[in-house]
Amino acid sequence: MSSYEEEFRELSYPDAPKIVVRPPGPNSLKILERQSELETKALIYPKVFRFAIESAKGATIKDVDGNYYVDWIAGIAVLNVGHNNPYVAKYVRQQMDRYWHWMSEVPTEFRIKALEKIHSILPQGLRGNAKILTTVTGADACEAAVSIARWVSGKNGIIAFDGAYHGVHLGAVMLTAKKSLLKYSGMPLINVLRAPYPYPYRCPFKVENEIECAYRSLEFIEHLIKDPYSGAGEIAGILFEPIQGEGGYIVPPKEFVKGLREIADKYGILLIADEVQTGVGRTGRWWAVEHFGVTPDIMCISKAIGNGIPISFVAYRKDLDEKLEEMFHLGTYRANPLGLAAATGVIEYIESRKLLDRTLLLGEHALRRFKELEEKYEFIGDVRGVGFMIGIEIVKDKRSREPDPSKADAIRRELFTRGVLMHTCGHYGNVLRFMAPLVITREHLDKGIDVFEEVIKIFK
Ligand SMILES: Cc1ncc(COP(=O)(O)O)c(C=O)c1O
Repeated sequence: MSSYEEEFRELSYPDAPKIVVRPPGPNSLKILERQSELETKALIYPKVFRFAIESAKGATIKDVDGNYYVDWIAGIAVLNVGHNNPYVAKYVRQQMDRYWHWMSEVPTEFRIKALEKIHSILPQGLRGNAKILTTVTGADACEAAVSIARWVSGKNGIIAFDGAYHGVHLGAVMLTAKKSLLKYSGMPLINVLRAPYPYPYRCPFKVENEIECAYRSLEFIEHLIKDPYSGAGEIAGILFEPIQGEGGYIVPPKEFVKGLREIADKYGILLIADEVQTGVGRTGRWWAVEHFGVTPDIMCISKAIGNGIPISFVAYRKDLDEKLEEMFHLGTYRANPLGLAAATGVIEYIESRKLLDRTLLLGEHALRRFKELEEKYEFIGDVRGVGFMIGIEIVKDKRSREPDPSKADAIRRELFTRGVLMHTCGHYGNVLRFMAPLVITREHLDKGIDVFEEVIKIFK
């Protein structure tokens, strides 16, 4: 492991998981009840994770009743360097003492430092050959990325995938594939074409061989682009998640991502990688595209880059910049100085603590342990992932592979009462996902997996 293990130990509450009152305890309940009087009923997380948070450190959270939890959610793949990371906090505090906000484009020294840092970690091919546009949220970055592709190419069509999640702003939601979210938005799909994502466990073409599945998907995409009667119109870009997040922590075969690059090159289409969830070390590389040896033309960055302070970026090939004009994209809070300070701290911390290699190693260890459970239990259909992005797919039985979202939810709730926070995802909501902060200690990781195993036994 790394020589920083002692430091990582000090980042978290040592006692987690420790439950002193079955959650929700009385203090949490009071706050939850008041929240439901004051806030919209359209919330989901306080109904699943029935607690109120007092404070959080590293990979652990303390609730207002004195319970300690091991956090495998990290604010949905946001807190890669952990809650309250002191190194990042120092930068944010320094910035807070100087200046918070004025006009979102006017520079500070810190802004330049943050931008230089981000440029320095871009994937090969974009590094030294990119420009950056600042945005606020993940959806904002995805919308801006798509606008760049459309504006620069002068074409409208975007190919996006089933299982995709790119946010729920009215532009981004058209790119997101979830039926209910599209329904709530009331937006029709405009100039978005949906292609099948090669989901090895549930290949949409019903082929078992995952490489064959990837080729079928690529053939379909090529058909959309080249057949004048495909109905696709003119395609500006292909927007994809290199590993699907909300869709179920789906790792596509290498051939797929390489094939997307080839198709984009062949037809002069811009390849847009949404690294909002996969980026900033989550998979043990700065960017998931690096696992595939592929460079996108445009890349969306958010979540972990601010470690909880909302900020996002679009990085794109330098030559695309020629066509962009003033006011191409706007937003009062773009490039918030506190977010830029956080981004600088996050990158320096991951680099100096060698967190990428550690994430790969610890991720392999976690994957191995989850895979042992897959072998033992009939209702664990598939375990997959890279780094700290691991999906555990819960099914009725291995033969039918029928999704079992209620069991996944029941497991998540039982884990919660035992002090382990885990969230679900997937087309059917039946995939439990491991996305802990990268600074979790080996002890907290193993304790969490021990609790996971105890819970799995109950549901046998
Ligand atoms: C891959 C991906 N893209 C975009 C988004 C949207 O980000 P935000 O919720 O910040 O708008 C998400 C959020 O989960 C995501 O996972």
